[in-house]
Amino acid sequence: MELVLRCIQFFMSIGYAILYWILPFMEPKKNPVRIPPISNELLTFSLVEVIELMGQRKLKSIDLVRAYIERIKDVEPYINAVVHDCFDEAIDDALCADKVIAGTKDEDIPALFERFPLLGAPFTVKESCGLKGMPFRVGSRQRANMICPKNGEVVNHLVKAGGIPLLVSVTSEYCYGMETQPATQYCCLNPHNDRRTPGGSSGGEGALNGAGATLFGVGSDIAGSIRLPSLFNGVFGHKPTGGVTSIVGHFPNCREPDGREFLQMGPITRFGCDLSLLMHVMAGKNAVKLNLKSRIATKDIMVYYSFGFEQLNGFLHKTPVCAMEMAIKTAVKCLANRGCYTERASMSLFKNSLEISISGIVLLQSFPYIINSNSSNKIFEHLVEFHKALLGRSEYTKEGIYFDLLRRVNILIKAERTNKYRAEAEVLKANLAKMLGDNGVLLLPTFPVPALHHNTSLLALWNIDYTLIFNIIGFPATHIPMGKDKDGLPVGFQVVAAPYNDRLCFQIARELESTLGGWVVPTPHDLNVD
Ligand SMILES: *[C@@H]1O[C@H](CO)[C@@H](O)[C@H](O)[C@H]1NC(C)=O
Ligand SMILES: *[C@@H]1O[C@H](CO)[C@@H](O)[C@H](O)[C@H]1NC(C)=O
Repeated sequence: MELVLRCIQFFMSIGYAILYWILPFMEPKKNPVRIPPISNELLTFSLVEVIELMGQRKLKSIDLVRAYIERIKDVEPYINAVVHDCFDEAIDDALCADKVIAGTKDEDIPALFERFPLLGAPFTVKESCGLKGMPFRVGSRQRANMICPKNGEVVNHLVKAGGIPLLVSVTSEYCYGMETQPATQYCCLNPHNDRRTPGGSSGGEGALNGAGATLFGVGSDIAGSIRLPSLFNGVFGHKPTGGVTSIVGHFPNCREPDGREFLQMGPITRFGCDLSLLMHVMAGKNAVKLNLKSRIATKDIMVYYSFGFEQLNGFLHKTPVCAMEMAIKTAVKCLANRGCYTERASMSLFKNSLEISISGIVLLQSFPYIINSNSSNKIFEHLVEFHKALLGRSEYTKEGIYFDLLRRVNILIKAERTNKYRAEAEVLKANLAKMLGDNGVLLLPTFPVPALHHNTSLLALWNIDYTLIFNIIGFPATHIPMGKDKDGLPVGFQVVAAPYNDRLCFQIARELESTLGGWVVPTPHDLNVD
């Protein structure tokens, strides 16, 4: 363990615990604003269902696309998730998809959908993943006029498969932040409670999915940027096995080969049953490595679980709230009833989780810094800028500068120690892979608390290793929503498998979704079903 680092973590935990205790007293008494309910049944169908309905000619792409455009317009004033839309182009694309389907003979329909598995299905894109011709500012004022020159590779796979992009959604500055408060527009709000953040950095996707305003979204995750917003907004989100999805066309990006493993594109969706199809498309050529067609029966999956880090390491983190522990207990019980072997896992392998996590990131030198100064005293300059940002007087965001600053000081770990922790990561990887094998999963918290209050993430950041550690060791991890806590905020946990066993995560997601409900609805639907 690193003493200085852990002291900081400890004080941040205390600071956060005090804040967590005080904040409820400071909240206004009146109830938070509710987003409008879903009133169109089309918005409640999963991707798998709409594809089937379109194939049977029972649903037109244009009706689906129009329904989502309406929904986005309804909820956007409550969540501020959109950077820019391309609704006109989407309507043209939808009409075109309908024409293709209408012109295909019944017997050729399966082949058509084999070739274009997402034909006519609308989706949304995190701005940093790159959608051609759309803004590419990624929350930064310095990039305010940038337009994306070319689809990111993963976005391209989705478009080539017939998917119809509707918009690009907001991220934190350079994707550096657990909240989505870009420097370029008003902060993004959580659809379950506007006093909370939707998380970050895929906050716009989290909020849109949580609000039922997109069929699915593309996110990116280098430290939890898919899984945290999924937790905070009550939806599913998958961080694939390291290296499976391409990061070409993403901003920010890096040259180190490790970066291509740590940073991954992945789906965010309300429907656990859609994850497999989405990864099949998003992984491109690498999809074969995931063996997605070979389904494993739930009862054959070995379920290990933990309620969080343990011993000294656990003590230095924020203890996960009861509702998170309950979510895991409920899932374990449900899976045991389905015939799974279940066992509480020891977390002793993870005793240096923070050091291992951070050392991986620190070594990625080519990731861009937000502040590119020539000053000989960069650290001082960052500190000054950080204080300006706290007062709202900087052109950068405080989350972004904080992250820059931590990297500039190597997060207080000496270079030779960083290498030691990199070696330790390899040991952890080997041991955990051995424990999980080809049929084991590990359930553990995605984060210790539900959706954070705005402007509190800098204190809570020191729990980031719950998610970041799996980027560093390259294991796939899916966040699974599991209902609400007493304040009405979504809770859940992540399910982790050994590399290339993403399909085990999807099977657990499907199983728990069908028995326990999946997506946490912010406002009950108002469907006029006869
Ligand atoms: C830093 O130096 C380079 C060349 O030495 C110059 O082009 C750039 O404008 C300088 N940047 C700042 C922020 O002063
Ligand atoms: C968060 O803090 C910034 C200043 O650092 C302030 O401008 C902003 O209004 C705060 N956001 C909320 C929702 O309180």
